Amino acid sequence: MCGIVAYVGQREAAPVIIKGLQRLEYRGYDSAGLSLLNGGLNIYKKKGKVAELENLLNGKSLHSTIGIGHTRWATHGEPNDVNAHPHRSNSGKLAIIHNGIIENYGALKQELIKKGYTFQSETDTEVLINFIENIQKHQDCSLAEAVRQALNAVVGAYAIVVMSEDHPQQLVAARKGSPLVVGIGKGEYFFASDATPIIEYTNEVVYLDDFEIAVVSDGKLTIKDTSNLEKTPYIQTIDMELEAIEKGGFEHFMLKEIYEQPRSIGDSMRGRLNAAEGRLVLGGIREYANKLVNADRILIVACGTSWHAGLVSEYFIEEFCRIPVEVEYASEFRYRNPIINEGDVVFAISQSGETADTLAAIEMAKGKGAIIFGLCNVVGSSISRVSHEGAYTHAGPEIGVASTKAFTAQLTVMFMIALRVAHRKGTISESRYRQLLFELEAIPQKVEEVLAVDSQIKEIAAQYKDARNFLYLGRGYNFPVALEGALKLKEISYIHAEGYPAAEMKHGPIALIDEEMPVVFIATKDSSYEKIVSNIQEVKARKGRVIAIVTQGDEVIPAMVDHVIEVPQVDEPLMPLVTVIPLQLLSYHIAVMRGCNVDQPRNLAKSVTVE
Ligand code: G6P
Repeated sequence: MCGIVAYVGQREAAPVIIKGLQRLEYRGYDSAGLSLLNGGLNIYKKKGKVAELENLLNGKSLHSTIGIGHTRWATHGEPNDVNAHPHRSNSGKLAIIHNGIIENYGALKQELIKKGYTFQSETDTEVLINFIENIQKHQDCSLAEAVRQALNAVVGAYAIVVMSEDHPQQLVAARKGSPLVVGIGKGEYFFASDATPIIEYTNEVVYLDDFEIAVVSDGKLTIKDTSNLEKTPYIQTIDMELEAIEKGGFEHFMLKEIYEQPRSIGDSMRGRLNAAEGRLVLGGIREYANKLVNADRILIVACGTSWHAGLVSEYFIEEFCRIPVEVEYASEFRYRNPIINEGDVVFAISQSGETADTLAAIEMAKGKGAIIFGLCNVVGSSISRVSHEGAYTHAGPEIGVASTKAFTAQLTVMFMIALRVAHRKGTISESRYRQLLFELEAIPQKVEEVLAVDSQIKEIAAQYKDARNFLYLGRGYNFPVALEGALKLKEISYIHAEGYPAAEMKHGPIALIDEEMPVVFIATKDSSYEKIVSNIQEVKARKGRVIAIVTQGDEVIPAMVDHVIEVPQVDEPLMPLVTVIPLQLLSYHIAVMRGCNVDQPRNLAKSVTVE
């Protein structure tokens, strides 16, 4: 959360930064700002989206070949023009952008106030830049050295970039706990929270590690750590196409990403699965594969939609591998002194690979001797780097804040891992294993079939767009899908929605049902079909309005309910990969019809890098 972007080179910095901020807007959109060296150090910032900042910049002379920019998700201080970044030091000579939280900013601020410093904003960031300035002033040292000393004194998380009026060719950047990528062009450098603002200009990047400080000065990059040890930059070539981060004719990123799923699910299997040859290879799980196969139990830690992917994974890992699985909210797990034994296996599932709670849960489990497998979508992300081994989900950049294609890619990869382990353990028969490889390979085509009924889902959405509450019910593999359907609706349409196991409804939510209450049943032909038919009857008996996701050709449920959405028949453990699609589309259409900004829902951020 919070997007940072900076540039130094020969180009005009302002357009590079503005475009970069637009690409990073998914990380926060409370306010945006830019600082340039155009006849002195100038800062332009505005509450609201990057578009508001662009309006402010209209007609201004912005010539500068160095600059820093920021798009904010507020932590300290309400979103307004003053609290927006960049922040300036008291001398007016230094400017900073910051993603993260400086926890001891209160004490530092008091110290600085005693020394005569004054503050315009309520932010921790303004404290940090003045703290840096104060060190530089008293020690008469370089900016990089002052940043280093300051970072040794602060507690918290940060990715920062600092620039100084006195050094028109210099940027100083550092990270701890919040991501920062350096893009290396020809005589130019870019800094950004992720690679998306950079790939238009260069595919050579360095992912900074925690406690690293990168200084670009007069066209040269040096990296040191906070103990002043020089590091050799590890330059990686990233493989990301520009089209992947553009809307490509769709009205919203979310819709594009929903529609991409046949391809993205295919991409997560590419090079890994070949059903005809009975081949299933996961290159990222090798050295620790035996630990996984012999694990006594598996823990899965995640947040949000990734946690729902963990719940589905629990079902199929237990079914196929016969290993007990516990799925934990990372934020709860890390604070409750859980029992972790040496050699326990922990899966961390995360689209961004940067979620602070998931990262902290991993560190804690790792500290107690657990083996960590990271399942991330963003290549080079922190979780992928701190894990022992893992697998990328290869869904491609997900920009819409509400996660869609990342979820189906997570399920696909976890499913492959489960099958691989079960096959090696011998807990699945050869014929069932082979059958599931074919079933999995056919999923992209099945998802395509679901997308084909989108117009029908849109019609249903039109009838329920004004509902105040929604209930989502499912059983077995479709229970986590009910949770995910409810989460999608809440996130982007602001309609209250609850997901529940269909049978558990009788123990509470049934009291909510009346003719006003739409109930979405995920009621495909599977082992709990008969039971869920009874649950539908219980709702109908109380005049609830039922939208049912059913298997093609079902004649029983359509006769009982108000609306049906058909999905193709797939093997039960793979069902979530198709049943979630109509729920994504339903929430999307409802949100659009309610006039909500589906790609940037209020208060949310795509990558939650604070606790
Ligand atoms: C935020 C996003 C969700 C996401 C969750 C976990 O809340 O808005 O879409 O599911 O974080 O993120 P992760 O990147 O760890 O999967």
